[in-house]
Amino acid sequence: MTESENNIQRIRELRIQRRAVILAHNYQSPAIQDIADYMGDSLELSRRAAATDAEVIVFCGVHFMAETAAILNPGKTVLLPHPNAGCPMADMITASDMITIRQKHPGIPIVTYVNSSAAVKAESTVCCTSANSVDVVHSFRDSRTVYMAPDRNLALYTARHTDKEVLYWHGYCPIHHSLTAKDVLAKKEEYPEALFIAHPECRPEVIELADEVRSTSGMLRFVKESSRDSFIVGTERGILYPMQKQNPDKKFYPASRKMICPDMKKTTLPHVLRALETLQPRIIVPEETRQRALVAVERMLSIGR
Ligand code: 13P
Ligand code: SF4
Repeated sequence: MTESENNIQRIRELRIQRRAVILAHNYQSPAIQDIADYMGDSLELSRRAAATDAEVIVFCGVHFMAETAAILNPGKTVLLPHPNAGCPMADMITASDMITIRQKHPGIPIVTYVNSSAAVKAESTVCCTSANSVDVVHSFRDSRTVYMAPDRNLALYTARHTDKEVLYWHGYCPIHHSLTAKDVLAKKEEYPEALFIAHPECRPEVIELADEVRSTSGMLRFVKESSRDSFIVGTERGILYPMQKQNPDKKFYPASRKMICPDMKKTTLPHVLRALETLQPRIIVPEETRQRALVAVERMLSIGR
């Protein structure tokens, strides 16, 4: 048996012994995707975390995702197998920035992307993901204006689909923001028959060129249901693995070779195995912060997709 097969076998045994569930984001490495119980985008994984009866949640993703699972599951052990798997965009705003925003814009709902710390969520009116940002903004029927943080590109995308005024923080995802309109035009020239699908974290001028804009799981559904058979994919390259696996006869081209999130690739099988063996690294959110963040997360989950 190879070392990797050995790791997989041990992970399977420990998963049963620990009554654990393994959740993995669509950008994780193929080896992690293959051992996950559930894959998904941020919204789907939040819903899974809210619904699970497992005692241990092994979150193969980045810190804010595991923190969201911990916010929703105070009695459970939530593990982030690689302790330094973070999200640079989530680090672009702090709780004290949020307090300043509230003071500057009193009474305006603050819609916070789940790509944020628990402390930032705790200062928010509601959370949103790339799958539901428009629905969340529309849920504030009586507000003419909303404030979105931390992703300016998600805010600008959302603003295109609402007549509300959308104010926003200046954060961005370095991976999605690195994709330029020039990159996309070059790919479209190379593959003129392909549809271009983009993530809402991309720049507005890239969104402008997209045939479809979706969350990661939204993209997976779209390419499966589409009658077309080739796609230029404007998001992190990890998604090409499930896309190709689910659609062996279709063709997928990364919009740019630069779109690799190093944090999403930190988690390996040995990290998952060690996490199940030691029940570490554990994500713990201080109770007062957790309760306030929970209000924003639950409010989001109560809004339909
Ligand atoms: P999704 O919620 O669309 O999976 O996106 C999460 C993310 O981090 C995108 O960079
Ligand atoms: Fe954060 Fe961007 Fe990586 Fe997603 S792809 S986890 S937004 S840095």
